[in-house]
Amino acid sequence: MLYHAIKPLLFRLDAERAHDLITGLLRLVGDVPLARAVLQAWFAYEDPQLSVSCAGLHLSNPVGLAAGFDKQGTLIAPMAALGFGHVEVGTVTPRPQPGNDLPRMFRLPEDHAVINRLGFNSTGMSVVARRLSTTKHRIPIGINIGKNRTTPLERSVEDYVATFVALVSLADYVTVNISSPNTPGLRQLHERTALETLLRELMEYNQRLPHPRPLFLKVSPDETAAQLDDVVRVALDVGITGFIACNTTLARDGLCGQSRDETGGLSGRPLTVRARESIAYLYRSTAGRLPIIGVGGVATAEDAYGHIGAGATLVQLYTGLVYEGPGCVQALKAGLVRLIRRDGLSSIQDAIGVKAF
Ligand SMILES: Cc1cc2nc3c(=O)[nH]c(=O)nc-3n(C[C@H](O)[C@H](O)[C@H](O)COP(=O)(O)O)c2cc1C
Repeated sequence: MLYHAIKPLLFRLDAERAHDLITGLLRLVGDVPLARAVLQAWFAYEDPQLSVSCAGLHLSNPVGLAAGFDKQGTLIAPMAALGFGHVEVGTVTPRPQPGNDLPRMFRLPEDHAVINRLGFNSTGMSVVARRLSTTKHRIPIGINIGKNRTTPLERSVEDYVATFVALVSLADYVTVNISSPNTPGLRQLHERTALETLLRELMEYNQRLPHPRPLFLKVSPDETAAQLDDVVRVALDVGITGFIACNTTLARDGLCGQSRDETGGLSGRPLTVRARESIAYLYRSTAGRLPIIGVGGVATAEDAYGHIGAGATLVQLYTGLVYEGPGCVQALKAGLVRLIRRDGLSSIQDAIGVKAF
């Protein structure tokens, strides 16, 4: 309600400035216990029917914050207060880097979409590690790792390993991001041999830990079926935990927004169907053996339920928050409970077992 009142003003600002303003406010609220308690009470919606297990993690609900919103790991307390079941921090790179030149984030209001070419602006793994080690987080956190722009592609394994080693002990799960369209060449890591080398190396470090963490691979929606088949084969061979489907797309079909020709990755409503197809494809080709976190164009309970029906165990959102505001987490959870009851199921975990494919 309040968000919809201030949205016209926010939307007059550059999209990244508006994001910084809102996240600055959230960070302030998160730091003050009383303000955090008020936020939590305002957005409270708990229902045991929404609790879910995924990759050995127990979550109060299946709705998570997608990577990119909290790149530096400063928003965990306020995001927990808004009711998210988990937060994915990152993408984090080994060394600090500023990302691309501004402006680099664009709203397409007519399409309920965003195009971004941030290019992994990151304070770097050491700063994120220090921050997370002093954060008391009550919800599971994933850490999404990537490479620095200046690291040649053939040496990218070194970047992923360094970031993994620095951050893994602070994560409940780790996401290997090979799918951002804004770091030149990154998506080439979907290629079979490169991917196998990268994942084997990370798994080797992971298995040496007293408590190995679930390792997810975040894929692009722009890969062909043959490329995804290769990705699945490698994932099964190497034994990673699961997939996050999917990152932003380079496709621009059917957009009306003025900024549609900006370079970068497209997210939001135009991605819903494409993301669902990726989820369904991965689910079918793994025979449902690996958990999938479904992300792309989720703004309503129906969107989230659709992704779950296609094969997702958890869902995440970013662009939905930009258009619907923080209240959408609560609305999404309440809507999911209604949909579970409509279908005569007793919990979201039952819905996860009932697939449309
Ligand atoms: C501004 C912006 C920045 C993003 N940064 C990252 C990132 O650093 N790492 C990543 O894996 N995904 C990133 N994403 C992609 C999201 O995590 C998500 O996969 C994508 O936006 C689709 O979900 P949505 O339609 O709910 O936004 C970013 C998305 C946006 C809009």
